[in-house]
Amino acid sequence: MKTDIHSHLLPGIDDGAEHFDDADRILGKVRKDGLTHLAFTPHFYPAGDSVGRFLARRRGAAERLSQSAHFQALRVTYGAEVYLTEALFNHEGIERLAYEGTNFLLTELEYNVPYGAGVERKLERLINDLSLVPVLAHIERFPDLLNHPERVAYLRDMGCLCQMNLQSFASFLKRRKMLRLVCDGMVDFLGEDLHRAPLPPDVKEKALEELEKAAPGFVEQCDAYAMETVFK
Ligand SMILES: [Fe+2]
Repeated sequence: MKTDIHSHLLPGIDDGAEHFDDADRILGKVRKDGLTHLAFTPHFYPAGDSVGRFLARRRGAAERLSQSAHFQALRVTYGAEVYLTEALFNHEGIERLAYEGTNFLLTELEYNVPYGAGVERKLERLINDLSLVPVLAHIERFPDLLNHPERVAYLRDMGCLCQMNLQSFASFLKRRKMLRLVCDGMVDFLGEDLHRAPLPPDVKEKALEELEKAAPGFVEQCDAYAMETVFK
């Protein structure tokens, strides 16, 4: 896997890497694994934050991490993992949270809200009112989506794209359903969603092996699409 569009490795701004040294060490590990393109996507929680303050924090953390030789060797970009609540729409400038130079917005659905018209309406607002393309973060975490491919298909028809976390393919419980979505062409991006540690090597190996077995070429396809879009 050469690209990763979902990470929390900017130090000290969310529940991800705490300090420069932690982030630097993880960047070294992912580079060693072959990563060349990385997007930093700290959490944006609409309650109690503002787009301007968030972007200033993100800029400060990026400046600190840019001293890392591993950082300098990577092609990086910036976005946010935006929590999709009603409160989001009270904010000015949501578009500025999209991956830089794109209209793709990494969007995290609410965990305590069952799938339904409310979720669809919020996604429609992002698409129709703000001309954004929601990239649904780790869709496998939401049983309401993982167990209902027809809903995923509906959201894609609406204009959403889908991201899955690589390590989830190592999960015996989820893998079969995840691979069905992959094989049906419903997944666009992979990420590791790294926070405070790199993936355990056996988990990463297992996930890549299962993917290659069930969907040969899929990882490379995700890399190519990420390079064309998020890292263009
Ligand atoms: Fe995340």
